[in-house]
Amino acid sequence: MDYAERTQRATDNGLGDLLAAPTKNQISFAGGLPDPKLFPQQELSVAFAAAMANSTGDQFQYSDAQGFRPLREQLARLLQRDGVRATADTIAMTQGAQQALDLIARLYINPGDTIVVEAPTYPGAISAFDTYEPHYEGVPVQSDGMDMVALRRVLTERRVKLIYTVPDFQNPTGTVMSLNKRRTLLALAREFDVMIIEDAPYRWLRYNGINLPTLSELDQSDRVIFVDSMSKVLAPGLRVGWVHADAEIIKDLVALKTGADLESSTLTLRGVSQYLADNDLDAHIAALRHNYAQKRDAMVAGLRAEMPGTAIISAPQGGFFVWLELPTTINTDVLAREYKDELALVPGSMTYPLHDHHNGLRLAFTHASIDDIKTGCQRLGRAVRQAMANTVTIRNDAQAH
Ligand SMILES: Cc1ncc(COP(=O)(O)O)c(C=O)c1O
Repeated sequence: MDYAERTQRATDNGLGDLLAAPTKNQISFAGGLPDPKLFPQQELSVAFAAAMANSTGDQFQYSDAQGFRPLREQLARLLQRDGVRATADTIAMTQGAQQALDLIARLYINPGDTIVVEAPTYPGAISAFDTYEPHYEGVPVQSDGMDMVALRRVLTERRVKLIYTVPDFQNPTGTVMSLNKRRTLLALAREFDVMIIEDAPYRWLRYNGINLPTLSELDQSDRVIFVDSMSKVLAPGLRVGWVHADAEIIKDLVALKTGADLESSTLTLRGVSQYLADNDLDAHIAALRHNYAQKRDAMVAGLRAEMPGTAIISAPQGGFFVWLELPTTINTDVLAREYKDELALVPGSMTYPLHDHHNGLRLAFTHASIDDIKTGCQRLGRAVRQAMANTVTIRNDAQAH
C-alpha cells in the first residue's frame, strides 16, 4: 500500500545515521552528541533512585500532559534568570526539543504554507517540518545571523507564517545573531504578522564572550515560541525538552501532544526535577563549557592547519559545531560517502531545506576526544586534498579532449 504523500519527504532524512555511535575505526564529527564522559551519571542515578522511591506510586501513574508541574516551576525560574517571562503555565514539557518542533509545525502549517528557515539550518527541523508539506524560503546566514535584507524581501514577496531560527550558536554554522538583528527580526515579524520559533538548546554553552538577550525576552507582542532542551546540557537520552509561549498557544500544543503520546514520561520528569533540586546545574554547565572550549579550539586549530587557504572555517563562541565551507568544486556529499569508514560527516546538503548546496560540512567537536579531533582533521585534510587533486585532473582531462 502506498504511504501518505506527506511522508515522502520525511521518511528518507538520514537523521538516524547521524545519531549512531561511531564504528570501530571511524571518528565521528557527525551527530550533535555530547561527550558521554561528561554526563552527570552519579548525580542522575541518585536523583532517579529518589524519584522511584516515592511511596505514593504517582511516579508510575498517568499524570499531566503539560508535564510535572514542579519541574515546570524550576525551569521557569531558570528561564527568568535569562530574562524570559516564563511561568509554569507558559511551559509545556515535550520529548526533547524535537517533539516541540513537530507540535508547533502541526499547529501552524497547512500544506503549501510558506515558512522561513535559516539556510543552512538544523536538519532535524527540516525533517520535522517536512511532514506538514510547507513551502520553504531559505534565508542566508551571515556571520552575525540571518540576512535581514533577504528576509524583508521574502516577507514582502510572500505571505509567511513562521520563521524558524537558532539565534545562539546556530546549528550548523555556530553563529550568534547580533542584538541589532534580533530587534530587526522582531520588528519584521510584527510588521508582517509572522510567528517566530526560537530554538535555543545551545544557549547555555557559551565558551567566550557574553550572552545576548533571547528573542523571547525582547518580544513585546507574543510572537516568539521558545524551544529548549536538557539534551545538550544534561543528557539527550532523557528526552526532556520544553516549549515556552503564550499560555493559549501552550494549551493548544498540549492538546496536540495528548494526541501524539498522551504525555511525557512522568518518571523521567520527576527524576530531572529531583536532579535540579539536589545539584548545581550552573556548576555542571561550567564544567561542560571548560571541556568543550578545549575541543572547539582543537578542531579550529586542526582545520586551520589542514584545510586549503580557500576554505572558510567558522570559529564559534559556543555550541557544538564548526562550519566548513570548501571550494565549490568539492562535493561534500561525495566526500562524506567516500570516507565514511574513517570519518562520519554531515554534508552541508542535509542542512539546506532543498538540499541544493554541496560544498559545506558541519563538524561536531563535542563527542570525539581531543586526540581523535586532531586525527580526524588530518583525515579530513587528506580527503580534501585528494578531492581537489581529482577535480584538477578531471579539468585537465576535459581540456585535453
Ligand atoms: C537546534 C536543535 N534543535 C533541536 C534539537 C533536538 O534536540 P532534542 O534532543 O532536545 O530533541 C537539536 C539536536 O541536535 C538541535 O541542534
